[in-house]
Amino acid sequence: MKLIIKGGLVVDPVAGSATIKDILVVEGKIAETGANLSAGGAVVLDAAGRLVAPGLIDMHVHLREPGFEAKETVYTGTRAAARGGFTTVACMPNTNPVIDNAALIRSIINSARTGGLVQVCPVGAITRGSRGEELAEMGDMAEAGAAAFSDDGMPVSNAGLMRRAMQYAKMLDKALISHSEEKSLSAGGSMHEGYISTILGLKGISACAEEVMVARDILLAEETGCRVHIAHVSTAGSVRLLQEAKARGVRVSAEATPHHFTLTDEAVMGFDTNTKVNPPLRTGADLAAVRQGLADGTIDVIATDHAPHTAEEKDVEYERAPFGLVGLETAVGLVWTELVNTGVLTPLQAITCMTLNPARILGIPKGTLEPGADADITIIDPALAEVVDPAKFASKGRNTPFAGRMLKGLPWLTMISGRIVMRGGVLEEENQQQ
Ligand code: DOR
Ligand code: ZN
Repeated sequence: MKLIIKGGLVVDPVAGSATIKDILVVEGKIAETGANLSAGGAVVLDAAGRLVAPGLIDMHVHLREPGFEAKETVYTGTRAAARGGFTTVACMPNTNPVIDNAALIRSIINSARTGGLVQVCPVGAITRGSRGEELAEMGDMAEAGAAAFSDDGMPVSNAGLMRRAMQYAKMLDKALISHSEEKSLSAGGSMHEGYISTILGLKGISACAEEVMVARDILLAEETGCRVHIAHVSTAGSVRLLQEAKARGVRVSAEATPHHFTLTDEAVMGFDTNTKVNPPLRTGADLAAVRQGLADGTIDVIATDHAPHTAEEKDVEYERAPFGLVGLETAVGLVWTELVNTGVLTPLQAITCMTLNPARILGIPKGTLEPGADADITIIDPALAEVVDPAKFASKGRNTPFAGRMLKGLPWLTMISGRIVMRGGVLEEENQQQ
């Protein structure tokens, strides 16, 4: 089993380089990278004109299993991931029951092994049932394979409890992922609080509802020495707090989503419930700050917060609709169209935010093209352009505000441990059926 990826622009976030060369894959591992490689009997994959990167990692995905299988499953969500160019996803524990013990962590790992297409790293809950009352069995979950901890979807409102969780997470050397939301400020809101919410007559969620908690968790991270990761940063104030914290040497990292660097609260004007997301779409100034934060390294990671819901759940009045939109199958196209083609990020920066940085935060040996590493590889075609068509999604969720939008720069091939699982936007298992 030998394969050579020929003549692509190899984007290597570990070396910090982007050079045209070949990659030799032998028995599912990267054997060698270099110019003009050859190996007897190797299958040749022509990557000329394309970007060859370590397999993309999405560290914020909702696979909805167990309990919400009408929205998504490990089976469908990992297929959506492969279509989107991702080889690893971290899945959030706000399921039913909440993933707050070792048995459930093991069951997700098992579902991923038997029915999943990409690697799945389960995130365990911080508190039992994510109710914010008492700590979950973090040590047991870490031992069972939890990659990090989060009550995502809900904040840990009690600061003393969050502090204790950080002390444990530090001991376990796991990151705590903070869903930064002060409920007493956000309660009842369904979009960003500002000019547009006033015009539309919708109750708003202020920027402060996020920033107060970002500030708290930075201070607690500083005190405890725990690695804290701020999920879905959406406001300019949060970016400023992160910048100051990093300058002081606090062990804090952060992520931004494609929807927060692409859309503003103006997108809510048509009352499309697919624009209802938590944290909400913010202002143009916030969007600019998020882009700047990605460009200068204040924000380390691009993650989708892929949050599938059924059409029935979303087909209601704006205020009654659940928060969330699907992101796996539009992420690369949005990163390229909005950030790379516009010069906000270089291809190397974009790839680093989607590979090496999340791998380091999750503590997994991914995001690298070093010899000996698993041959998890994503090939992106910067010339490939397509209009977003949710009917083509492998995800059960079709809740995207990007339907009909032209994206340029798309995932062309996804390889996991040397095995091609997606080519030309189509899953290999479907290619084989035809
Ligand atoms: O929009 C969101 N949807 N934000 C969250 O924090 C949770 C997520 C979900 O689970 O649907
Ligand atoms: Zn989430």
